[in-house]
Amino acid sequence: MQIQRVGVIGAGTMGNGIAQVFAQSGYEVRLVDAMPAALDRATGTIEKSLGKFVEKGKLKAEDRDAALARLTTGGDLEALGEVDYVVEAIIEDAAVKKDLFARLDSITKPHVILSSNTSSISITKIAATTKRPDKVIGMHFFNPVPLMKLVEVIRGIATSDETYAKVKALSEKLGKVPVECNDYPGFVSNRVLMPMINEAVFALHEGVATKESIDEIMKLGMNHPMGPLTLADFIGLDVCLAILNVLHEGLGDPKYRPCPLLKKYVDAGWLGRKSGKGFYDYA
Ligand SMILES: NC(=O)c1ccc[n+]([C@@H]2O[C@H](COP(=O)([O-])OP(=O)(O)OC[C@H]3O[C@@H](n4cnc5c(N)ncnc54)[C@H](O)[C@@H]3O)[C@@H](O)[C@H]2O)c1
Repeated sequence: MQIQRVGVIGAGTMGNGIAQVFAQSGYEVRLVDAMPAALDRATGTIEKSLGKFVEKGKLKAEDRDAALARLTTGGDLEALGEVDYVVEAIIEDAAVKKDLFARLDSITKPHVILSSNTSSISITKIAATTKRPDKVIGMHFFNPVPLMKLVEVIRGIATSDETYAKVKALSEKLGKVPVECNDYPGFVSNRVLMPMINEAVFALHEGVATKESIDEIMKLGMNHPMGPLTLADFIGLDVCLAILNVLHEGLGDPKYRPCPLLKKYVDAGWLGRKSGKGFYDYA
């Protein structure tokens, strides 16, 4: 079955980028979010991002217009009854994702692959809420999606070889590089990245250095494109905390305990770029 129509659920930081790359690659996209304001913001972000590609001469104006024409938005999950493929990109909360996948299982056609952009939550656990665990898989994009090449493709315990092969081919059609990974908390990317970000927050918390110094040392010393605190703001501090909680609980090792300062920032609503304040100000 040819994939032509794609449903993307969650229009936040990741969902709008995912919807954009599918639309740019010729797929009809239905972007769904529970919050109408998120859909408005997402449409604006996609228009701006495609506009930048046009300005830089990387996209023709007519291809931008065609991509935008392939994108529709709405709040109704039932509209996904006609799609051929699904990517879920809602909040990083296992209970909410499990509930959504159970609903998607009854709404979408039985042959449709249901993928999740989760950063850390068990694909096996999400798949178990459906009657098609062989067709559930992790399709983990990176931020900003239109620019980042990697897709970490995560196989749950029941994911079939056929599903994996289709998602690998689909990622390549989007111009991405798929890399296979097994289903353990945080997979590879966040199992390695999040302890580094958490340690940077502990260093700030303990007064080892200022936020600027921590970022500059890691940037120049390790040749990273941005420091860990800047990166945490970019990812979203709530997302970082949710991932650390999954690592801590899932692997049972105290080395993954989230820094109290990170928890305090999230409690304050200081979520990074998306809220206008995190370790840095973005007003
Ligand atoms: N932020 C990153 O850098 C990053 C990178 C890779 C993967 N991820 C993962 O992608 C997913 C989304 O993260 P994000 O950073 O885009 O989050 P976000 O907070 O920016 O956006 C989440 C969106 O989901 C919507 N939503 C929440 N519950 C919903 C529901 N039940 N139905 C429909 N819409 C719902 C919210 O209204 C919001 O617009 C998470 O699983 C996260 O772990 C994030």
